[in-house]
Parts: sequence; C-alpha cells; structure tokens
Amino acid sequence: MQHYRVAILGCRGRGTAAGRAYHQHPRTEVVALCDLVPELLATLGDELGVAARYDDLDRMIETESPDIVAIPTGTEFHYPLAMRVLEHGVHIDIEKPICTTLAEADAVLARAAEQGVQVAVHHQGRSGGALQAVKAAIAEGRIGGLRYVQGSGKGYYGGYGLMNIATHSLNAMLGVVGPVQSVQAVALTDGRPITPEDVVPSPSGMGYIAGEHVTAALAFECGISGTLLQHRFPKVDSTAYMIEIYGTEGRLYWKSGAPWFLSTPHFAPGQSEWQPLAPIVPEHYDPAGPAAVEDYQFADEYVQALDEGRAHECSGKAGRHVLEILMGIFESGARGQRVDLPQADREHPLLRWREEHGMGLPSPMPRPYAEWLAAEDCRLGRGAS
Ligand SMILES: NC(=O)c1ccc[n+]([C@@H]2O[C@H](COP(=O)([O-])OP(=O)(O)OC[C@H]3O[C@@H](n4cnc5c(N)ncnc54)[C@H](O)[C@@H]3O)[C@@H](O)[C@H]2O)c1
Repeated sequence: MQHYRVAILGCRGRGTAAGRAYHQHPRTEVVALCDLVPELLATLGDELGVAARYDDLDRMIETESPDIVAIPTGTEFHYPLAMRVLEHGVHIDIEKPICTTLAEADAVLARAAEQGVQVAVHHQGRSGGALQAVKAAIAEGRIGGLRYVQGSGKGYYGGYGLMNIATHSLNAMLGVVGPVQSVQAVALTDGRPITPEDVVPSPSGMGYIAGEHVTAALAFECGISGTLLQHRFPKVDSTAYMIEIYGTEGRLYWKSGAPWFLSTPHFAPGQSEWQPLAPIVPEHYDPAGPAAVEDYQFADEYVQALDEGRAHECSGKAGRHVLEILMGIFESGARGQRVDLPQADREHPLLRWREEHGMGLPSPMPRPYAEWLAAEDCRLGRGAS
C-alpha cells in the first residue's frame, strides 16, 4: 500500500495539528516543514522528528517531492500560497475557509484541475466521527425523513462568525443534506439593518464582512430548509456551536466529537431525553497519541480518497460551495433579497455593494479579534478604542 509524503507549510497552531495527524497516521509521513519563523520550525521539527526544515516552500517541494502539502496559514495567504504550491502539481490540504472570495476559490480549483491534483479544505468536522455517527443514524432511518436543519455559532461578531465558524457548520450540513440552492438573510449591526458603512475588514484576515447578528434561511436542493445563526454574544461560548437535524420521527444533534439522538421529532422537557451516540472512529486511531481525532480522520479520509483516485469528502468543490453560501448570506443581508446559488458574480458582494454607493475599500482594522472588536465598538459609538 502506498504511503503518502506530506509537507507542512506553516508551523503554528493549525500546522502543528496537521503535522501531528499526518505523523500519527500509519499511511502518511511528514517529510518536511516550512515556516518563516525558525523557532516554530525547531519546535515542530523536534516534536515530530523531522529534520528537513525550510523557509522557502518552492525549495522544500522541489527537494522533498511531497504528495500532499498542507497549507495551515492565515486565511488571507491561502490563495497566493495555494496557487504557488499547485504549480508543483501536488495535492493540497488547505485550512478553512478556502479563500476570501469566490474568484480566488475558482482560480485554485481550476489550477488544481489543470494539474490533475486534489484540493481538500480542512473542515475536519465533516469527515470526523461525530458526523459519521449522525449520517449513519439517518441512513438507518432513526429520525425518519429529513425535515429541517439548523446551526449556531459560538457568539463571535456575526460576519466574522460566518467566515470562521459557519464555514465548519455549513460543510457539516452539506455532508448531511447536500447543496444549497438559495439563501435569504437578515444582517443587523447595532440592532438595525446593515448599510454599506458597516462593511469592514474581517478579523484574522478573512476578507470583508458585515453584520453583528446574522440570521440566514437556507433552501437545500433536496427540498428541505434550514437556518444558520451567527449572533454576537457578550462572551464567546463554544457550547452554542452545533447543528441540529430535525426528522419526521426524531432529531440528531452534532457538535465536534459529540453526536446525540432524540427519539421523538418534537422535544418536550420531561417527556423525551437526548441520548449520546458513539462517534465512528477508525480502529487504528490511538487516542494516546498526539493527533486530535478529527484531524486524524481528515488525514485518513485523504489517504482513502487518494487510494481511490477521488476527491476528499471535504473537497475543494465543497469548500467553494460553503464560500458561495457565505457570500450569498452577505449579499442577501445587504440587499434584503433572496440570492440564488451559485452566483454569477464571483467578486466580493459587499465590496460591490460599496462600489455601487460610490465607496472604495473600508478603512483597515486591527487583525487580532479582541482589538478588532474594540475598534468596531468605537466605530459604532460605544466607547473608546
Ligand atoms: N480547522 C480548524 O479547526 C481551524 C481552527 C483554527 C483556525 N483555523 C484556520 O487556520 C488558519 C490559521 O492557522 P494558524 O492559526 O495556525 O495560522 P497562523 O497565521 O497563526 O500561522 C501560520 C504560520 O505560517 C507561516 N507562514 C505564513 N506564510 C508563509 C510562507 N510564505 N512560507 C512559510 N511559512 C509561512 C507563518 O510564519 C506562521 O507561523 C486560518 O485559515 C484559520 O481559519 C482552522
């Protein structure tokens, strides 16, 4: 059986997670690391026992001939780095969200297709054991027919929550109920519908966003509907991050690592209880090892996909469709109209909206989230930055 050679481009938090997963998986080997910061290379290289350490990605790929290059870097760098890596004709594992505009995502997918390589977008929840258990329960008919799906974020500023967290929830929804045909959204900032002035650069380099509280209705191609909430809470609360699938005879609840089942379609306190389901995890995963289980399963799915010459379950196309939904939500929130997918205009809808109002790019904002929030609250007249 083929073993896949993996190089990690970017060795901070997510690069460390990817490195541990590909290191622990029996069919993948981390053969090289690249970062601009020598200390990060040393720390991850020493942990994984990888001696091939580079500060130049082209030299790394030419010298080490990896099969897969992981690109766990800040989101604004996904597009230029992916295009550079794809020149070498290698498969990529790119962090989420795939890019900051649809035009960029289109270019990445087109170049990958020309090179005959795969793009996987690191929505590890979709290929993880909790969602596998949810999908198995649906396939066994435990909730009857699908009726509705809903998801919530963690309480980040809404537009940022869309790019950062909803990218995961949406890909999990796509894995369960398939593609979205149209979206309709309400986007409020400071309690009123957004205006072009409310379009701001995202924290963490995730492009442009708008909306402090975003509520979106989704129409899936399979004929069911869903809702997605990304509302700013006073304090970020991870317990709020989940999706729930309603069936005609029961319900399923998913969050990373934790699938649950309700045997009645309507929850009534005291009359029905949620039951935990066991996540479906490969037998060869060793929980005592350093890899997080969902990152390990993401690597495992890549191995199987490449063996079979097919796309990863978290494919580039799925990652781009997630971005189509996100951009559709922004556009619908801005214009107050339904947006049909996939949209013909692939540039950022919020920037187009500003242009139509004679406005150029918004002023820069701080990149770190806490500083960004302080600046946004100041813009909204809520106190000193
Ligand atoms: N999948 C998840 O659960 C999850 C969780 C958190 C963040 N993310 C995503 O991960 C990404 C950020 O990951 P992070 O926080 O580890 O990134 P980071 O920006 O903190 O670190 C990226 C590293 O890449 C290096 N780098 C950047 N450009 C380079 C180049 N040209 N050559 C060599 N090295 C280069 C930097 O020096 C840095 O060390 C974002 O896209 C974010 O959305 C995903």
